[in-house]
Amino acid sequence: MSNRNNVAPRHIVLAFSGGLDTSVALVWLKERYRCRLTAFIADLGQGEELDVAARKAEKLGADEVRVVDLREEFARDYAFPMYRADALYEGQYLMGSSIGRPLIAAAQLRIAEEVGADAVAHGATGKGNDQIRFEMTFAALRPDITVISPWREWEFASRTDLLAFAGRNGIELDLSSGERPYSIDSNLLHTSYEGEVLEDPALPAPAGLLFRVNDVADTPAEPETVEIHFQSGNPVGVNGTPLSATGVLETLDAIGRRHGIGRLDIVENRIFGMKTRNIYEAPSGALLWHAHRAVQSLVLDPEVAQLKEELMPRYAALVYRGLWFAPERLMLQAAIDFSQQDVTGDAVLRVHHGGVQVVGRRSPHSRYDVAFATFEADDVFDQRDSSGWLRVSTVRFRAGRRAGAVDR
Ligand code: ARG
Repeated sequence: MSNRNNVAPRHIVLAFSGGLDTSVALVWLKERYRCRLTAFIADLGQGEELDVAARKAEKLGADEVRVVDLREEFARDYAFPMYRADALYEGQYLMGSSIGRPLIAAAQLRIAEEVGADAVAHGATGKGNDQIRFEMTFAALRPDITVISPWREWEFASRTDLLAFAGRNGIELDLSSGERPYSIDSNLLHTSYEGEVLEDPALPAPAGLLFRVNDVADTPAEPETVEIHFQSGNPVGVNGTPLSATGVLETLDAIGRRHGIGRLDIVENRIFGMKTRNIYEAPSGALLWHAHRAVQSLVLDPEVAQLKEELMPRYAALVYRGLWFAPERLMLQAAIDFSQQDVTGDAVLRVHHGGVQVVGRRSPHSRYDVAFATFEADDVFDQRDSSGWLRVSTVRFRAGRRAGAVDR
């Protein structure tokens, strides 16, 4: 046995998607450990036929299959807290995949508890980020459980090896995904594409490869106005209709897809330091990012607003690195959430040909005060006070000049 704890598992819960890696993993785990195996299928709104995956798991030899609908929990307890932080990894990536893993792993541990399993397994590769997110979560929530990572144990070195094993073992592949010349990860928030035909960062994605949002060439000629309503930092409705967390994401997803919103083609730095070229399509996230900041901009104390901007990259790196359940993420979240209590109101966006513009925002807690900002006469600000502020703030320049300083 070469799993981390060097013990023979009695019962494994495998996070199963029905794709190549987890299908091979299921057959391989049964063959290698000869123990009970529960296939766990997480519904994060990936929009695939989950009963097809469930039947497949059974056919491949799972003793039991559990399909769990995690969509509302994903939206409310994972996506929204991250959106309250306006988190972007390396300035651009909305982390639709990064934020999915801790929930899948946490739900997998719940299933392990329910079925009395002593081991958990995932199909993420030994080079990637997802293994870290799974295993950081396992370690943070249940450090004693046995973790099996087939990609780090088995003799297969490539996707080609997996395909050969699948062929030998009668593992049927859904041709539409088996043929796809890239790796894909989809959920309620986004679709991520990477690898294979996308590996040369100089070349644009081949036509027809990206399927979630409309190509800008095919978007409607007319712009569309979207109003998003927030309560304490969370989106709670769209265009006057109150919605569940899932409902908000689905509604904005549909609008964003139509107008080609949220497509991003980047080279990013993985946790292990290698660069990868990734394409993402996150229509609802792009709309929410702009809308949330618009409402927030009216409400936050200026020092709080600026400190929040400074904390954001740290927070984003924690999410990217799988540290969702680490104390430092929870600490930052508490600070962020403290700032969000009054972030209630509406943002008005205009979307057109792949672009998002903020065109209006309002809040009952707005600190925006025309009396202060106006160029006309007012009775809240005495312009003579500025003289004292400037006089005191420039002491150092006069002192430097008197000392004959050469620093300018
Ligand atoms: N590079 C992205 C991230 O680390 C996407 C990972 C997508 N996962 C996948 N199995 N294709 O968040």
